Amino acid sequence: MRSGPEPDRYAVIGNPVGHSQSPRIHALFAAQTAQALRYEAILAPLDDFADALHAFAAAGGRGVNITLPFKEQACRLATRLSPRAQAAGAVNTLLLDADGIFGDNTDGAGLVRDVTHNLGRSIARQRLLLLGAGGAARGVLLPLLLELPAQLLIANRSKQKAQQLVEEFSKQIPPAGLRACGLNELAGQSFDLVINATSAGLSGISLDIPAGLFAPGCLAYDMVYGKDTPFMAQARQAGAQVADGLGMLVEQAAESFHLWREVRPDTAPVLRQLRELRGI
Ligand code: ATR
Repeated sequence: MRSGPEPDRYAVIGNPVGHSQSPRIHALFAAQTAQALRYEAILAPLDDFADALHAFAAAGGRGVNITLPFKEQACRLATRLSPRAQAAGAVNTLLLDADGIFGDNTDGAGLVRDVTHNLGRSIARQRLLLLGAGGAARGVLLPLLLELPAQLLIANRSKQKAQQLVEEFSKQIPPAGLRACGLNELAGQSFDLVINATSAGLSGISLDIPAGLFAPGCLAYDMVYGKDTPFMAQARQAGAQVADGLGMLVEQAAESFHLWREVRPDTAPVLRQLRELRGI
């Protein structure tokens, strides 16, 4: 009996990478859309990401997701970049083909899609607060701005980093009320959507933010998934609707899958299945 052609190969590269949900998510997408592909997790040495990537490409790999800590390095190795990857200065998706390495960043689109489609909340014309000014915040900023919120305030512990982001992104897009402030300057302001892009929740640290931040009907979104962060507890206490980043994770994966296979998977059953599996 002859076997069929080898399925196309994809991978997530990171360090650590064992915790990544991407192999599971892409296997579910592939089964749902009847795409013949294999998706694996590759642990790259911290000092040798480039070799790991080039070895996978040489072995016939068609596409890669990049996770911490290689997103910026992957951006530099790409031979072409999407505008959103360029703005983010980081990539989470690579398309490997005869033209070289195309780098994209689907994180922001994943966040926007989760908020607007899965959670049914508009970003356009809303008052938006982004907490944090590190890589996670930078990665989602352009897609958020393209939704044309009434205002987007970036608040960060180090105010200077928030100011730098505002300065940089104001050059790229007409600043629709794009402003920066320190985390300690939020008193007296309230927002329709508050997105936590700080890493504080990962260490279980609560942010020093006023309860009045959350306007009535506010959605408080933590980009972290898989744990109830102090930010989520603070927001819930203040009466906000609360969401974690699992939907963003699934949606950014769907956006990568679409780039690679030109097929858009239905994310709802995959998100449901992940929540059931994880008990969240
Ligand atoms: P990431 O890629 O996750 O964004 P990062 O680039 O190191 O990681 O950025 C971490 C972000 O979380 C920063 O905005 C950081 O604030 P500073 O720029 O002032 O350091 C924020 N952060 C981390 N721990 C925090 C804490 N305990 N309180 C407030 N902000 C915190």
